Amino acid sequence: MSSYVTRKTPGDTSWFVHDRFGMFIHWGTYAMGARHEWLKHNESTPEEKYNKYAKYFDPDLYDPKDWARQAKAAGMKYVVLTTKHHEGFCMWDTKYTDYKCTNTPAGRDLVREYVDAFRAEGLRIGFYYSLIDWHHPDFTIDRLHPRRNDPDAEELNKGRDIKKYAQYMRDQVTELLTNYGKIDILWFDFSYPADNSDPDLRKHGKGAEEWEAEKLIATARSIQPDIIIDNRTTIEQDLWTPEQYQPTQWVRHPETGELVVWEACQTFSGSWGYHRDEQTWKSPEMLIQMLINTVSLGGNLLMNVGPTSRGYLDYRAEAALKVYADWMKYNSRSIYGCTMAEPEFKAPNGVKMTQSVDGSRLYLHLFEYPFANLELPGFAGKVDYAQFLHDGSELLFDEKKVNHFSEGASQADDLLVIKLPVVKPHVIVPVIELMLK
Ligand code: GLC
Repeated sequence: MSSYVTRKTPGDTSWFVHDRFGMFIHWGTYAMGARHEWLKHNESTPEEKYNKYAKYFDPDLYDPKDWARQAKAAGMKYVVLTTKHHEGFCMWDTKYTDYKCTNTPAGRDLVREYVDAFRAEGLRIGFYYSLIDWHHPDFTIDRLHPRRNDPDAEELNKGRDIKKYAQYMRDQVTELLTNYGKIDILWFDFSYPADNSDPDLRKHGKGAEEWEAEKLIATARSIQPDIIIDNRTTIEQDLWTPEQYQPTQWVRHPETGELVVWEACQTFSGSWGYHRDEQTWKSPEMLIQMLINTVSLGGNLLMNVGPTSRGYLDYRAEAALKVYADWMKYNSRSIYGCTMAEPEFKAPNGVKMTQSVDGSRLYLHLFEYPFANLELPGFAGKVDYAQFLHDGSELLFDEKKVNHFSEGASQADDLLVIKLPVVKPHVIVPVIELMLK
């Protein structure tokens, strides 16, 4: 059994740390602007202008069954959809605002169809819910708000009542967690607390206090006690969520130093929402390596797609999902039910390891492909059988020395040497599976 123990969580994270790989979906009317989901903030877009998106939002090609099939093929086991992002637009038929999909040409409850489609493919269902809301009339103007630089910002702020907004969030979360069956993840986003006594509202922020986060979380847990909730309200719950960088160690609790349940969330290119002109699409190697790196440090990966406003995944997103599909089809055994390798196993250069939680199998991911031996100091006497994972073909190994007559061939009592074929197998990152004694 794995010796790594994580800090206890209030929700049920047992399935989560097994499944390891999920799909994030950022979809809202910002897909029409097609230049980042923060465009309203970035461009301080006037309300009237931004509302045109809702007026014309028409995802006529929305086919969540197709998304779900692609997610499943990519090896993703759960999914998290933006039910509402910072723009405030609601992707379901909520009772609490008119700013919702059913009042657009879309004319239907998009969340409902998403839930049904992904559930039918056997994926677990998550809801992202933005704490920030740049549409709600009671959401006070602060340093991130699109109206922050308006000459009449102070004026506009008068009469706004953040308490009413906190109640609105509880009502909406209640709705989302009541009307769509079992929901496995609730992903709140995000807090930026500040000293709001500063006269300049462009310095104001929001956090647990403004969200009334304790009540909000209690509301969620009263409906779905096992649900996994992230920490972005700033009240610690289940999930630590590093984004847009890869941790280089298992994430630890800042105060106690305990290992925690963590999930990196990342994008295929440099935006969460559909961004037509963004060009930094990650290479296939990088996509696969990010997944392996994450699991090799005991984490999960939530990989994002930003569907177009017409409701389909563009060709670049489909290609990236296909990269995962091709690799996971043959190699998912090194991901599901796996975690960081035990400290007794040291990975050589160019290799990243994972280990099955029951301890019986070790997976060596060859980021660099060596010629023609993989030398593994410390492994002698521990391996019963070795094979490539993708085709289950045996790999022969020697112990104590590299089997070669030349002088200088490595030898050591604890050395295990795997012989590799000269030509790298036709797999982006080949995996060696070691059955341990
Ligand atoms: C950030 C951004 C946001 C994105 C999120 C995903 O907090 O505000 O646009 O939804 O990260 O982690």
